[in-house]
Amino acid sequence: MRSFAVALGFLGLTNAHLTAWHRGMYCLDGASGQIDLNTADPVTPLYQLPKSDWWFHHINKCDEFPPAPGEFLDLPAGGQFQVEIASNRAKTSLSYSGRDQSDWPDGGHYPDNYNVPSCITSPNMHTQNQSMAAGSAFAISYQSDIKQVTPENLVVFSVRYNTPWKRVARFDVPAAMPACPPEGCICAWGWIPDGCGQANMYHQAYRCRVTNPTSSTPLAPPKPPVWCEGHPDTCTKGAKQMLYWNQADGNNIFTDGLNLAGQPKSPGYNMKTGFADGAQNDIFVGPPASNPGSGASPAPPPSHNPSTTPANTKPQTQPTKAASQSRSARSTSVTSEPHNQPPKPTNAPAPHANPANSDPSHVSAPSVQSSTPVATERPSPRCNSRNGKRSNSKRNLHTKNRLRRW
Ligand SMILES: *[C@@H]1O[C@H](CO)[C@@H](O)[C@H](O)[C@H]1NC(C)=O
Repeated sequence: MRSFAVALGFLGLTNAHLTAWHRGMYCLDGASGQIDLNTADPVTPLYQLPKSDWWFHHINKCDEFPPAPGEFLDLPAGGQFQVEIASNRAKTSLSYSGRDQSDWPDGGHYPDNYNVPSCITSPNMHTQNQSMAAGSAFAISYQSDIKQVTPENLVVFSVRYNTPWKRVARFDVPAAMPACPPEGCICAWGWIPDGCGQANMYHQAYRCRVTNPTSSTPLAPPKPPVWCEGHPDTCTKGAKQMLYWNQADGNNIFTDGLNLAGQPKSPGYNMKTGFADGAQNDIFVGPPASNPGSGASPAPPPSHNPSTTPANTKPQTQPTKAASQSRSARSTSVTSEPHNQPPKPTNAPAPHANPANSDPSHVSAPSVQSSTPVATERPSPRCNSRNGKRSNSKRNLHTKNRLRRW
């Protein structure tokens, strides 16, 4: 029985993909409505999907399964946080007390200088070796309701070059990160691999919060990154959106041709798109202001807001209606939404213009109610372009990048 399960797991993981696991993540238990300690639901790659499907991995409704109440991805201001990048929850410390984990994302054992010139396929990390790993990033939105998060209020705050690589990955938090609303912020992990398989994308949601904040200066509205390899002066400066690429719609970066190394351009979280490694310290509207606790509010001019009770603790009059309206309003400016907003300074940057909207994300989402762990491991979808059944069969979008065999 045990060996059967292990064999199945091995077959499945041969083509598994990756996400960054943490108790504060959405879809930790999978998207079946049952607690699945073996789930790979959040790791499936996103490719040529409509934004309604790829955004926070809605393709299999991962965005509708919030973390358990009280679970947050904690972001210590000026410090580091840790996630586990793995192909399956079973291969992390979050299942079976870590029984099946190793130093690597798939529970396997490989040399530290693991290098396969034709691309590593186990684990399926979309790279030849560590130095070629594209990099991945975390972004934050100062909205507590995942439905209120948009590309325009989701700001990349931390990048780790040469990830995904080993299972444990650490990310740096800018020292000036302001506090989140009482119900927390929404964070996202993103990864766009550089070749070695289908040119796909990963977009994972978390409930997060900043711990030990010392500044209240808000984040600036993020701008889309651009391809700027070899021309750093042309990179997008300051707060940047996540990279959205190779989807049916909702893309914010478009590439054509080859990079300086002669390979098809692939926009990753690295200097080719203007992202420095580590904490992104240039994402704020101004210098740090010492008024922690009101980070979700716009930074007031010299006279600090004396209130330690943020406006966003006020209940909305019609949270359900507001939530449903947000779906249709998603592509428009967040400032146009009819929220019950208290008087506030009007020069607020767009990402934080709605502090009143903070209904907990778990209110309207289906609750995960099962205490029966599922012990069988399912195979994960494949990501090689030859095997990308879903996207390839459903669509006929033969881009230059896809046809090229990496
Ligand atoms: C990593 O892979 C690239 C591409 O195959 C290669 O050029 C480079 O030498 C490799 N680096 C190491 C340290 O093996």
